[in-house]
Amino acid sequence: MGILDKHKYIETNATLLLVGSLLVVTVGGIVEIAPLFYLENTIEDVDGMRPYSPLELTGREIYIREGCYVCHSQMIRPMRDEVERYGHYSLAAESQYDHPFQWGSKRTGPDLARVGGRYSDDWHVDHFSDPQSVVPESIMPKYAFLKTEIIKPEYITDLMQAHQMVGVPYTDEMIEAAEDDFRAQADPDSDFDGLLERYPGAQVRNFDSETGISEMDALIAYMQMLGTLVDFSTFTPEQSR
Ligand code: HEC
Repeated sequence: MGILDKHKYIETNATLLLVGSLLVVTVGGIVEIAPLFYLENTIEDVDGMRPYSPLELTGREIYIREGCYVCHSQMIRPMRDEVERYGHYSLAAESQYDHPFQWGSKRTGPDLARVGGRYSDDWHVDHFSDPQSVVPESIMPKYAFLKTEIIKPEYITDLMQAHQMVGVPYTDEMIEAAEDDFRAQADPDSDFDGLLERYPGAQVRNFDSETGISEMDALIAYMQMLGTLVDFSTFTPEQSR
């Protein structure tokens, strides 16, 4: 029997073909899955990544509550058109503290993974209040109410503890200081040294220029940090483990 005849024998025998297929899939599966049990982490450590500050985390909750992910993705794919438009492709590490992740699956609006620093705070206030006032053809809904929703950090400790439970490395010190850090980040006159020590690179400002901390402050604090933690002028992908 030549090799083709042997193959024909398998192809014309349904049971044998099924057993053979299962065998091949099993071997392939083991090769792909087994190594994962021996790796502690599949995400490469990247300098600059840190858990969200209390105010950023609150902004992120608003992002989820409002369903922003329905129209916006947060994942830049390594394709030329995307990298030229949005910047360096997204790294796994950049969403390692996201529970749940916000990659999204639809882009009615642009990707937001690196929107931090692209616009001024004032632009965001105008845009969220009335998107069509800055981008006339925009179909984004208005979120003007965020400005008058004054928020207190009453649930921030619980929220951070929940994230700690699912693996975000919030320390007990961070959780203890959560309420103070929440207020400090929106107040440039506060004592925010501790905040910056716990969350390097956190931006401290009155984001919406109004008195009181509103949902607008929290959402803009979140927007302005997106994609800013990793310094891509010095980043080089790890070649080997
Ligand atoms: C119905 C779809 C839709 C929803 C929901 C939506 N957006 Fe948008 N968004 C858009 C579109 C379309 C644009 C592009 C036009 C514009 O700038 O308004 C946009 C633009 C943006 C921009 C400017 C991005 C850039 O790089 O120019 C930001 C920031 C933004 N949206 C944030 C949000 C946030 C935060 C939410 C939730 C509170 C949200 N969007 C909800 C459709 C949406």
